[in-house]
Amino acid sequence: MLNIAVAVRYVPRLPFIRAALGPKYFIPYCPLEALDAIFTPGEFGPTLDAQVDFIGRATVPVAGAVKDSEAWVLAVMAKKSRRIFEFGTCTGRTTYHLARNSPADAIVTTMTLPPKGRDQYTVEAGDGKVDVDHALSESAFTRFFYSGTPVESKIKQLFADSKQFDEAPYLNSCDLIFVDGSHAYSYVKSDSKKALQMIKPGGVILWHDYHYNPKAVPGVFQALNELSMTYPMKLVSGTSLVMYRKIK
Ligand SMILES: C[S@@+](CC[C@H](N)C(=O)[O-])C[C@H]1O[C@@H](n2cnc3c(N)ncnc32)[C@H](O)[C@@H]1O
Repeated sequence: MLNIAVAVRYVPRLPFIRAALGPKYFIPYCPLEALDAIFTPGEFGPTLDAQVDFIGRATVPVAGAVKDSEAWVLAVMAKKSRRIFEFGTCTGRTTYHLARNSPADAIVTTMTLPPKGRDQYTVEAGDGKVDVDHALSESAFTRFFYSGTPVESKIKQLFADSKQFDEAPYLNSCDLIFVDGSHAYSYVKSDSKKALQMIKPGGVILWHDYHYNPKAVPGVFQALNELSMTYPMKLVSGTSLVMYRKIK
């Protein structure tokens, strides 16, 4: 007999099952070049237009870090973004990449819960314990990859609980938003709602850690599946990044 736990874990990875269940349960794939034409392959694969500076990590542990392939995608997207916002700074590796690769006049605003702000974190019904524990353990930094580098002046660091963050000054102003704060369901919903208000027409929101496995990062999986019923979102092939481009 098929073990239920095995089925829940592996069945969603089968493309025909996802197609049959539809976007209510699984956000559909798109190729990388659907995110942006800059990724359109040339004669040898990625073109020189998609060249960036970044700190590769391979298997070297970095708290809360994105994979190298995702770091590359984010850094390329930064090349044409002047107003960038990141929910969830952690070590500031992505923040550094965004600032390092964006135009000289770009501003990167990034928000994190500081170690002394953990008591501001609010758990709601539906938030998974593992997601909450990760969010709190990753709220450990007050110095970042970018600290003391030449791009620090492009970065505005916010220390706050994202549910208490007032997005009003950022409405319709961001070219690129990276949602990678707490992965607990209520926070993904709250951060996403704010990001959708902050993104400007033509701008792109990218969310991290969406997997075709309901148990991998359950808060992100559930919140994004629900949002994808209203917004046309796609999982960028080869990554765990979900994208939404606001129509101009
Ligand atoms: C997965 S890490 C972010 C990784 C980072 N974006 C990167 O690419 O290296 C999650 C971050 O979200 C922050 N965070 C967790 N809960 C938060 C909250 N309630 N408000 C603001 N930030 C929060 C953590 O402090 C941590 O900095």
